[in-house]
Amino acid sequence: MRAYQILPGDNIDGLQCVNFPERELALGEVRVRVHAVSLNYRDLMVASGNYLVNVDNPIIPCSDGAGEVLAVGHGVTSLQVGDRVAASFFPHWQDGRTAPAKIRHALGGDIDGMLAEEVILHEDALVKIPSQLSYIEASTMPCAGVTAWNAIFRSSNDIQPGDTVLLLGTGGVSVLGLQLAKAAGLRTIITSSSDEKLQRARELGAHHTINYRAIPEWQEEVLRLTHGHGADVVLEVGGQGTVNRSVASCALGGSVAIIGGVSGFGGEVNPVSLLAGAKRMVGIFVGSRTMLDNVMRFAAVSNLEPVVDRVFTFDQAKEAYRYMESGSHFGKVVIAVTP
Ligand SMILES: NC(=O)c1ccc[n+]([C@@H]2O[C@H](COP(=O)([O-])OP(=O)(O)OC[C@H]3O[C@@H](n4cnc5c(N)ncnc54)[C@H](OP(=O)(O)O)[C@@H]3O)[C@@H](O)[C@H]2O)c1
Repeated sequence: MRAYQILPGDNIDGLQCVNFPERELALGEVRVRVHAVSLNYRDLMVASGNYLVNVDNPIIPCSDGAGEVLAVGHGVTSLQVGDRVAASFFPHWQDGRTAPAKIRHALGGDIDGMLAEEVILHEDALVKIPSQLSYIEASTMPCAGVTAWNAIFRSSNDIQPGDTVLLLGTGGVSVLGLQLAKAAGLRTIITSSSDEKLQRARELGAHHTINYRAIPEWQEEVLRLTHGHGADVVLEVGGQGTVNRSVASCALGGSVAIIGGVSGFGGEVNPVSLLAGAKRMVGIFVGSRTMLDNVMRFAAVSNLEPVVDRVFTFDQAKEAYRYMESGSHFGKVVIAVTP
């Protein structure tokens, strides 16, 4: 079977397609034919060496994949041959609050990931895909879907239907966040550097859109659009360039979910800006296998079709990375591994 490998820091050109011999399944393991892999900003960070991973050897990259069970090892009880499955970002985080043991490994980071024709994972690291989701759609869920789900529904401060969610930019996490929030009856505000992308966001049902280039003080626009109330949940993916504006956009008693740093990490947040409005900042680290199960179930019952901007073939993996790096995408970029 073929798989891509990369030594973190070797950049996109360092992606190599390699042939691997097949190995026997151990107790509890499952062999999966991978059909689709979705890319995340993190995969670019691993490639560029900007993601904290303790590995000296090349790894198979990418956390997010979906496929079909080819074989099950001794002792496997939850899955059988032919089942459609998606892999959980943290193979050891089943449920509940996180803990060091639960996040000790992450696919495509410090252990091999999903950009392969076949993978072997423990049954506990896999979740069945509802029939309504295609492999391509399911592949968008393990990182981006779970992160948005966790930020909006698990780690926010008592979100209620009709509350407002603010999404920054139109990348994978934000567009899935928009779709999940919309499906749950929440009011949505989304920002982008592109009017064309904002038009697409409106077509998806975004209630309000803001061009953050045209309106650099976009936090004031969020307050204006919400009649001074602010957003009850902010999905903060911007980092040092946006975090203080995100706090200013947040409603009293609301939550700022600290997710990413596309403009870089760093900067300072004055504690008074949280204290005075009883606002919460909460760090999000993707989420558990149960959250993956829940977000896919919710997507299925609400007929949510994750937005996939472009699908590349397995042989076009480097092009897919470069397209993601260009920032032209809206939503997710997917590699169809086995047609
Ligand atoms: N903590 C976690 O568990 C977790 C999980 C997933 C992702 N993340 C992080 O979240 C961030 C987004 O990940 P992703 O996979 O969704 O990335 P992505 O698909 O590459 O999306 C990035 C988007 O960010 C927007 N952007 C760029 N600069 C911006 C700025 N200054 N202000 C507002 N938006 C800006 C752009 O949107 P426009 O083109 O519309 O302007 C861009 O398309 C990354 O930092 C990633 O590492 C963290």
